[in-house]
Amino acid sequence: MIKGKRIILGITGSIAAYKGIELARGLKQDGAYVTVVMTENAQRFISPLTFEVVSENKVFTDLFDPPLSHITLSEQSDALLVAPATADIINKAASGIGDDLLTTLLLSFNGPIVFAPAMNWRMYENPVVKKNIDTLQSLGRVFVEPVTGRLACGEEGVGRLAPVGDIIEVIKQVVSIKDLVGKKVLVTAGPTREPIDPVRFISNRSSGKMGFALAKAARRRGAEVTLITGPTYLESPYGIKTIGVERADEMMDAVLKNFNDSSIVVMAAAVSDFTPEKASKEKIKKEDISTLSLRKTGDILKRLNKLRKNQILVGFAAETGDVIKKAKDKLRTKNLDIIVVNDITEKGAGFDADTNIVTIIEKTGKLYKCPILSKEAVADIIYDMVLELNA
Ligand code: CTP
Repeated sequence: MIKGKRIILGITGSIAAYKGIELARGLKQDGAYVTVVMTENAQRFISPLTFEVVSENKVFTDLFDPPLSHITLSEQSDALLVAPATADIINKAASGIGDDLLTTLLLSFNGPIVFAPAMNWRMYENPVVKKNIDTLQSLGRVFVEPVTGRLACGEEGVGRLAPVGDIIEVIKQVVSIKDLVGKKVLVTAGPTREPIDPVRFISNRSSGKMGFALAKAARRRGAEVTLITGPTYLESPYGIKTIGVERADEMMDAVLKNFNDSSIVVMAAAVSDFTPEKASKEKIKKEDISTLSLRKTGDILKRLNKLRKNQILVGFAAETGDVIKKAKDKLRTKNLDIIVVNDITEKGAGFDADTNIVTIIEKTGKLYKCPILSKEAVADIIYDMVLELNA
């Protein structure tokens, strides 16, 4: 994670320079210290004063003020992000040119370097720029690809700065400890929807936030992640293979397809336990519904148990009243390695929240009661415990 990390944010001369403000703010909100370095052309688009206010830090614009800042900043920082990155800065970085503070920092910095390009599509598709991006990537520099859309000149094409959330996610990835490298992690998230007719459905309450946090945490720690999710309002997480499903049966199929070569499975989805016997193709008139015939859906975790080789299985339980006992029973009946339980009546542990209050119980009987934490922090603790079990 980026709490306490020192990030250099390089701003170059692009119309997207103003998005640097949102980036600096987002990085700071997640606990990072941000030092902004601006090129001369960047200052034509936006004033250093704006960044000084947002970053609550001195903004650096001059190679010689103070002298040696290209070395001291390098030594003190954990990551260097250039966003927006123009064609010019990419070409200079690939050629090793150091003619201002940002380019000399790109030469002296030993840690992870991330570029988020923003430019007209003609420039982005220029073979020289393409070749230089390839060169930088082959040297380990990370690129957050621009997206397609309406560009500053009014044309449509690839070249818009990637979404700020994706860029921050990549920064989190590059500064995280990579202790899940080589692991394939399968995460399920969100609710399932069981159709009654084309308009109505049965579902469970779930925002998907816990599952998405689990997928992102695993990816940051170096795992190859597949996320299988029911319908949510969340954006697909950057760099993660995401499979969208609707019904419990579809979730079962998707999980089974991806189970064999996975090493850790985390079932955070709120899978519907019942589905209508038959979904009507036509909208049913309310006068025509008096009873609804339901059948039970298959229990995914129980099915995985029959098929498992050496996969670690993690389950979730959202309970009320006597939650630890209920969770221990589920851990046993579903033969899980770990169960994560929350009492949904507790403030800060309910649906839709960004926080959770969980107790994590291992099959060994070890029990860890967490305080109120962000769902991302909870996800990290779960993987710490998985790694301990696997050790
Ligand atoms: N689960 C599953 N397949 C289902 C239902 C649930 O794999 N058809 C998983 C959930 O993803 C979760 C765990 O089982 O990780 C516990 O889910 P929960 O709904 O709490 O338990 P149920 O077995 O459905 O029991 P109950 O609803 O009666 O508490």
